[in-house]
Amino acid sequence: MHEFTFKDNELHCENIKVADIAKKVATPFYLYSYKTLIDHYRKIRTAFRAINPLICFSVKSNSNLAALRALVRNGAGLDIVSGGELYRARLAGVNPRKVVYAGVGKKRSEIEDAVRFGILFFNVESEDELDEIQNTAGSLKKKVNVAIRINPDVIPRTHRYIATGKGETKFGLDFETVHKIFNSRWRYPNLNINGVHIHIGSQILDAEPFENAIKKVLEFLKVYKIEVEYFNIGGGLGIIYSIENPQTAKSFAKSVLPLLRKSGLKIILEPGRFISGNSGILVTRVVYNKRTPRKRFIIVDGGMNDLIRPSLYEAYHKIVPVSLREDSSDTAEKADVVGPICESGDFLGKDRLIPYVRRGDLLAVMGAGAYGFTMSSNYNSRPRPSEVMVIGRKFYVTRQAERHADLVRGETIPKVLK
Ligand code: LLP
Repeated sequence: MHEFTFKDNELHCENIKVADIAKKVATPFYLYSYKTLIDHYRKIRTAFRAINPLICFSVKSNSNLAALRALVRNGAGLDIVSGGELYRARLAGVNPRKVVYAGVGKKRSEIEDAVRFGILFFNVESEDELDEIQNTAGSLKKKVNVAIRINPDVIPRTHRYIATGKGETKFGLDFETVHKIFNSRWRYPNLNINGVHIHIGSQILDAEPFENAIKKVLEFLKVYKIEVEYFNIGGGLGIIYSIENPQTAKSFAKSVLPLLRKSGLKIILEPGRFISGNSGILVTRVVYNKRTPRKRFIIVDGGMNDLIRPSLYEAYHKIVPVSLREDSSDTAEKADVVGPICESGDFLGKDRLIPYVRRGDLLAVMGAGAYGFTMSSNYNSRPRPSEVMVIGRKFYVTRQAERHADLVRGETIPKVLK
């Protein structure tokens, strides 16, 4: 469920007409519903209430400060993967003891900042990284918590670009190496290696691969008598973009809770998309209509630089007119919804049944709250769009659209070229 619904043929975000927001905010823009964001966070919290896990929202899915602040205020922790995300996490006022830090390539300066901030866990992905964190913590005279990311080698049945839990990906460590690390804990006097971590992929629709991975890890800990305090089971819960039928938070919890409870470990979850995905849309305006002998095109002012998921993963995002006309259903005809970028891969949707639209009409690209703005770029020197959040009866611009001057910030023409 989300808060983007039609009332009297007008798409609303909670109780505000999207078209009214578009009168005040230039398109394209991302529009988020505070209520949907928090509702989805609470769904997971409620489903797992029996074990009271730490829920660390995955910042990479939606890093807008207002979204982070909203979740933090409601008790969430944050899952970060870079110094930049740490910076955002701090600005959002997160409790350092609710921050976990993953990623295969943490640099010394990033590790240092995170140690100083006092985060709860580093999720470590290699022996080199373990040495680097040991050295950093040693020179700062700090003791830090470390969880080892295990690659459980399971098949998560999702797009190959977003599957991480298979043996051949760069993520995590194999069981043998993990065993070796736990046997040499003494080598790391400044590390408290007291957790294990998995994250098997993203947009996973059924609980089975999670169950398999969790079982594998718990069995491993048991067989080798490895004692840890925490088990971070990652994120990856899939959502509905079109006709998917994903597990609910409740059914997911039902299948993994017995395993987790029995383990007696403290549990951490890192959902991103489940919380943010359906809490946002991309609002875009029709620039031109175009017909060729082969196709109908709707050219809009949002492109692959604003939302790259369709181009990159052939991801499906539902596209709907923001204002439906009486005859909308009669005029529906297949069209490609494309952006202004000079690439044939620049599309938001292909062969979609969309009613006749006029220049200047608004279209909404649904399910764009996760990996939407955060993957946007300035390609074709396009300023990135604004982000807007509806909170209660009002909407707030939570990030201004970039201006042309932002595009060249930091660039200089060397004197020799003047
Ligand atoms: N934890 C770790 C260690 C991760 O790498 C990720 C996502 C998450 C948690 C959150 O996963 P989620 O619950 O959102 O599935 N750009 C792709 C998704 C890449 C996911 C990367 N890692 C997309 O647009 O579908």
